[in-house]
Amino acid sequence: MTTLTTRKPAVKSKAAPRAAPKAKLKRLDESWDFRKADTKRLTHGIHPYPAMMIPQVAARLIHLHGFAGGLLFDPYCGTGTSLLEAQLAGMNAVGTDLNPLARLIASVKTTEQDLRKLAKHIDRFEVLAQSGGANHIGTTEIPDFNNIDYWFAEEVQCDLATISKFVGSVASLEIANFFKVAFSQTIRECSWTKNSEFKLVRMKDEQRERFDPDPYRIMTEILRRNLRAMRDFLEVSLDRAAVKVCSFNTVEGIPHDVVAPESVDLVVTSPPYGDSRTTVAYGQFSRLSNQWLGFHEAAKLDNDLMGGRAVSHLIKFGVSEVDGTVAEIARADQKRAGEVVSFFSDYQKSIRNVAQVVKPGGIVCYVVGNRTVKGVQIPTDKITASFFESNGFTHLESIERNIPNKRMPYKNSPTNVSGVLANTMKREIIVICQKV
Ligand SMILES: C[S@@+](CC[C@H](N)C(=O)[O-])C[C@H]1O[C@@H](n2cnc3c(N)ncnc32)[C@H](O)[C@@H]1O
Repeated sequence: MTTLTTRKPAVKSKAAPRAAPKAKLKRLDESWDFRKADTKRLTHGIHPYPAMMIPQVAARLIHLHGFAGGLLFDPYCGTGTSLLEAQLAGMNAVGTDLNPLARLIASVKTTEQDLRKLAKHIDRFEVLAQSGGANHIGTTEIPDFNNIDYWFAEEVQCDLATISKFVGSVASLEIANFFKVAFSQTIRECSWTKNSEFKLVRMKDEQRERFDPDPYRIMTEILRRNLRAMRDFLEVSLDRAAVKVCSFNTVEGIPHDVVAPESVDLVVTSPPYGDSRTTVAYGQFSRLSNQWLGFHEAAKLDNDLMGGRAVSHLIKFGVSEVDGTVAEIARADQKRAGEVVSFFSDYQKSIRNVAQVVKPGGIVCYVVGNRTVKGVQIPTDKITASFFESNGFTHLESIERNIPNKRMPYKNSPTNVSGVLANTMKREIIVICQKV
């Protein structure tokens, strides 16, 4: 967490009068596509992650609806895109995510480093790397997690264990975390995972035979790239606002000593599109890193994320957009309808809790995708607006944008029939509501 106070505000210096409510119709606005924008600028590109928000969308929302000195909250902060943009705009920010890897990345992205000390540690690592790990001190321990031999060649395991030992020897928490982020990407790139997939899919035999990664070289390159990113970050943001990255689950509640009721000026977030099993598997994407980094509680992460637990029956929400959609899906597949109910039941609880911490007059911006299940498109944009409306908010507008940059599953199998693919999610919708 960093607290500095005297920066030049990048956005309005106090709460500006809100624009009059506009038409609630969804409108496509290509100025939100940011086709040519550098989405990896500053520390945004220090580690890949599924379905990241693009910084330009967060920055524009903060510019339109935030103000320096205000408080931004992100209930599904992932790798902290909106937290970093809030910080750059002089807003204090709190984010939460259940995935330890996402929290680690978010915190490194937004934490100031002592560049001189960091560079010295990287030099020290390079000496180890150039010797191929030969000059490390003491014995290394290969972690004993399930299936390690299935995902990593034996010599890669030894090299990763030596790198892990080096990372463990770094005394400064900030610098150790910086190294852990680079280590995490190294783990992914040296494993037998198909890197083009977010799910854990193993390479085919012939690919594995040809695959001969050098963990030391890969780690060195990532460290150097991230050092440049950190240098750029420090140059543009000399005085930073405070950022806090937390691990609470907004479905269950929001600890009021962390985010007080009616304290938040702006929410900018991108919730998951649905449960992890049938949409984006954040837990699977992060599993090998979480295991090597010792985040053992993450083993069943996908079950803990929204929609991860099965429901025994199809409840009614009293919101026509959800109930009608669930009934339509249930006609084709009762089980898939149950998964949708499980997700929206958690989503509704989370929104109820988020609504309580927003100040009267405060704004929420949810960037959502309308996915398709069994050929039925789920109007998550309308459902989001309705859930907020039933918690004392007015729906101001919904802006539709094309997704030119976001890495996510454009194609899935909506019928679960292998080989039958459908295009989904070429667009997303920014739903903007205001607390009355
Ligand atoms: C679309 S991603 C957010 C990406 C983020 N905006 C970024 O740019 O990196 C959704 C996130 O929601 C998190 N998530 C899912 N269910 C959650 C819950 N109940 N509480 C907190 N986070 C949750 C997932 O771990 C994932 O990181």
